[in-house]
Amino acid sequence: MQNPIIVALDVPSPEAAVKLAEQVAPLIGAFKIGGELFTAAGPDIVRRIRGTGAAVFLDLKFHDIPNTVAKAVASAVRLDVQMLTVHTFGGGEMLRAAEKSAQETARGLGRPAPLVLGVTVLTSHDAGTLSEIGCAPDVAGQVARLASLAVGAGLCGLVCSPLELRLLRQTVPARVQLVTPGIRTGAEKADDQKRTLSPQEALAAGANWLVIGRPIYGAAQPREAAERILASLDCA
Ligand code: C5P
Repeated sequence: MQNPIIVALDVPSPEAAVKLAEQVAPLIGAFKIGGELFTAAGPDIVRRIRGTGAAVFLDLKFHDIPNTVAKAVASAVRLDVQMLTVHTFGGGEMLRAAEKSAQETARGLGRPAPLVLGVTVLTSHDAGTLSEIGCAPDVAGQVARLASLAVGAGLCGLVCSPLELRLLRQTVPARVQLVTPGIRTGAEKADDQKRTLSPQEALAAGANWLVIGRPIYGAAQPREAAERILASLDCA
């Protein structure tokens, strides 16, 4: 089994990100770089984190016209990221363009294509938010519909909440990789995560990858925290 731990580098500066990455790189499967760090530190932070030898998940949730998303994905592939996100709300044509760009750009560079992950309904959204933007007020129905759209468009991965894991594992093909945040070990507080699973529970429910932020970067000893989580997973 691969190491499924993705550490979210939700730290304010590139220096803090690199320091954390150097501490925990041998214990994890990938680092997630999101909008805050990327916007502050630029593409160079991807190169520096790749320099630790770890895989990079670039979580910028692209959502635009197909041509623009295809070009953004191509830029991400040239940065040598292994995973990236797009919003499934962008529609089938945009999703196909994203996957095609990932495949073709990677082929041109002679490297494996990154895993393009579809984000369905944000966990900050509820039935009221869906109504507000003109969608049927049925979160589970929308998640299933958008997941199916993404898989039909050729995507091989989805981001989902811990509570959606079982439903999606039953409805999407086994080859589709599921990435879930909202992971808590029980040793720390839930913070603003309302629905959490432990790492073991999330894997048992069908997750392939666990996005873990504060339980690792917020721990007094991040390396020990990562070691404990890895040891609990039986995949070291
Ligand atoms: O610190 P924590 O473990 O809660 O961090 C979870 C990470 O996953 C953060 O980077 C957060 O932005 C991201 N995320 C999330 N919930 C979602 C999607 C992404 O917590 N629905």
